[in-house]
Amino acid sequence: MSIFICPVCGEKLEPAESSYVCPNRHSFDRAKSGYVNLLLSKHMGKAVHGDNRFMIQARRSFLNKGYYEPLCSALCEAVCEHIKGMAILDAGCGEGYYTAAIIDKLREHNIAADVYGIDISKAAVEYTAKRCREAELAVASVFHIPAADKSCEMIVTLFAPYCGEELLRVLKDDGIMIMAIPSADHLWELKQAIYDVPYRNEVKPYELEGFELLDKKRITYDMQIGTQEDIDALFSMTPYYYRTGREQQERLSQIGSITTKADFELLVYRKF
Ligand SMILES: C[S@@+](CC[C@H](N)C(=O)[O-])C[C@H]1O[C@@H](n2cnc3c(N)ncnc32)[C@H](O)[C@@H]1O
Ligand SMILES: [Zn+2]
Repeated sequence: MSIFICPVCGEKLEPAESSYVCPNRHSFDRAKSGYVNLLLSKHMGKAVHGDNRFMIQARRSFLNKGYYEPLCSALCEAVCEHIKGMAILDAGCGEGYYTAAIIDKLREHNIAADVYGIDISKAAVEYTAKRCREAELAVASVFHIPAADKSCEMIVTLFAPYCGEELLRVLKDDGIMIMAIPSADHLWELKQAIYDVPYRNEVKPYELEGFELLDKKRITYDMQIGTQEDIDALFSMTPYYYRTGREQQERLSQIGSITTKADFELLVYRKF
């Protein structure tokens, strides 16, 4: 049984050998790597196809070097602490760095759970499918999640767009949502090296409609970034990437190595 529903009629999808099929015979092929594309063109949004292959490869290379490992460990701990049922959805899973870590941690603790992931970027989901064979994965938008009402015990949403209404719909009553966001000092020294007047990140209020905040943890540490390649990869993961002028690009390309802060908040919410 899958949590996935047909994006056309909303009926449950039945996984078959090489496709997912609904009772109304809408059928969605599975790619060779196992994921399914449930994104309807009308749900794509205005030219929003998520991260492109270059951004995904940069993030994949950076994350695989372990720079965000402390966050990943804290996330996996929080998942194991709060999990109380079967279905976990990674909403905006990217190329699956955290999805894979969650699966490993659950296995290590002998916790049986079904892990699902969605992302609007096909290239990202393809990577996730290759590294998370046991997860069920779909190309889909977090604004139109192809999952049945109240089908998930837990959702993780890590640096991904947020649609509270959809998350509340697919979460069971008392379901848990774990969210990671950058905190005030994230990449402060890197920003100092690039901008004349760097700004700290604005951290929005924690209250979210329909959710009760159960726990929050700030994860702050220094990262020694030893190569220009890693600095470039890190920068391409940030929202500043597209907003940086020529002069700042030039400064960025000269840094070579830097010690800069990683500063995150891990927030655990319960649906009420
Ligand atoms: C900053 S990345 C984070 C990826 C992953 N959670 C991580 O932390 O490594 C944001 C992700 O959100 C995806 N995304 C953007 N808009 C989306 C949408 N409407 N629905 C689903 N995913 C979306 C992008 O393709 C990208 O993979
Ligand atoms: Zn259907």
